[in-house]
Parts: sequence; C-alpha cells; structure tokens
Amino acid sequence: MLTIESLSKRYPNGHLALTGIDLTVRPGEILGVVGGSGCGKSTLLRIVSGLEAATTGRVTLNGTAVTAPREEIGFVFQEPRLMPWLSVRDNVAFGIRHLPRAEQAARTEEALRRVGLIDFAGAWPRQLSGGMAQRAALARALVGRPSVMLLDEPFSALDALTRYDLQDHLLHLWSFERPTMILVTHDIEEALVLCDRIVVMQPGPGRVQTIATPPLSRPRDRADPLFEDWKHRLLGELSRSFRERHSGDEAFPAAAI
Ligand SMILES: Nc1ncnc2c1ncn2[C@@H]1O[C@H](COP(=O)(O)OP(=O)(O)OP(=O)(O)O)[C@@H](O)[C@H]1O
Ligand SMILES: [Mg+2]
Repeated sequence: MLTIESLSKRYPNGHLALTGIDLTVRPGEILGVVGGSGCGKSTLLRIVSGLEAATTGRVTLNGTAVTAPREEIGFVFQEPRLMPWLSVRDNVAFGIRHLPRAEQAARTEEALRRVGLIDFAGAWPRQLSGGMAQRAALARALVGRPSVMLLDEPFSALDALTRYDLQDHLLHLWSFERPTMILVTHDIEEALVLCDRIVVMQPGPGRVQTIATPPLSRPRDRADPLFEDWKHRLLGELSRSFRERHSGDEAFPAAAI
C-alpha cells in the first residue's frame, strides 16, 4: 500500500507548490493524475519517488517512509532520457548494474522482450524512433522489478497513433507483475483508458480537487457512450479547476465523483 499523508511542498523560493495531499493507492491500482500546467503533478511524483523531499507530511510504501529513490519504485519521464553513449541493452541494465552479471543479463532480456525491443538490444538510442525510445525507458523502469511505477506524462511527446499503441503496451506490461502505477497525464482520454481512479488537481496551491472513479469495464472502449460521458465530466472538472483559483495555505476538502 502506498500512502501519501498531509503532504505539502514549499520550494526554497517560497512558492507553495502542493498543500494538504492525502492519497492511498492500493497495490496494483492504476491512479491517474490530471490537472493544468503548474498544479504540482510532477512535484508530487518526484516526492513519491523520493527524488524530492516534502516540506510537511510523508509518503510510505508498505509502512516504510520513502525518503530516497529506491529500486522498488520505477520512474518514467516525459522524454526517454536514454544515455546516448550506451546501447539500448546497457541503458536498460544501468539501474541494476550492482546485480550479478547473469542476473543483469536475464532481467534485461526479459524487460526488452516485454517491451518488444529484444531485436534492438545492441542498437544505439539514436537509432530508435520516439515510441521505441520510450519503450526502452519503460524497460529501464521495469528491470528493477518495481512494485510502484511512476509515469510523468510518458506519452505526451508522441504522435497519437504511437500514443495509443503505447497505452495498450503499458497495460500489457502492467498485467505481468501488476505494479501500483501513478500516471500523470494532460490527456483525459488517456487517463480514462488506463486508470482505475483519476485525481483532478487544482493549482494555486496544488491540491486535490476531485477523485473520480469511473465505472467503466475493461478493456476500455473509447466509443462507449459512458466513456464519452466521463470524458465530459472530467473536462468539466478540469475547467472548474482553472476557474476556482485560491491562494494561501488554508485546507481544501477534496470531493469524490
Ligand atoms: N525547483 C523549483 N523551484 C521553485 N518552484 C518550482 C520548482 N519546481 C517547480 N516549481 C513550481 O511549482 C509549481 C508546480 O510545478 P510542477 O512542475 O510540479 O507542475 P506540473 O503540474 O507538473 O506542471 P506541468 O503540467 O507543466 O508539467 C509550478 O508553479 C512551478 O513553477
Ligand atoms: Mg509536470
């Protein structure tokens, strides 16, 4: 169980980026986070990963506080961030280079197979398309066998077809070990295709406005009228988040829909 309790973040320049964040994410859940630019989505993900310290509150994973990055928590960024001087295989293996060589090789091969890049293991990052590079980044996150995967707009730099393809691919990857996932996205449709619950954040300071639990069966069908209905509800929530800006440190109760 991943819990986020009374979390706030004030940056050293005085900017209050997050306030009063309380979330519990159950094992294997796919939690979406949507909200306008600057509402603290990346800040939240970085704190959950242990890359950034919270100002108040805490993050715990199965009862243990997360205070630094760890293998159990994988991170995928908007851009693949592959090291150009390493082969695809070595990029994927980078985070597990402390393991025995045979274990490294076995895990790397498994991760590359799962993302469909085994034939490109020896390629250089520059030889990959954008979608392939992002699949390599997914493999790099998976190779540590994380129980939590954090994804910060992982597909937003890709064209629509590649994005759809990688959304399906992500669900396929999730189906093996069923890690808990937190997916930050600008794309409501992507959140509805992938997520069990969707947190709508509000800026000024960043906080939870609404948590939606769309009652949609899987696999999600974009053509389903209920899917379309939820898209409109969430778009409505998002535009409300822009209209109702607050300032200060007061508490903001979150609603559920
Ligand atoms: N290191 C920092 N120092 C000061 N302020 C910061 C820092 N990093 C982020 N911020 C500010 O905190 C707020 C939240 O930023 P964050 O990057 O978490 O937002 P976001 O929701 O991920 O936005 P986007 O959708 O554009 O990626 C923004 O106002 C941003 O300018
Ligand atoms: Mg961001």
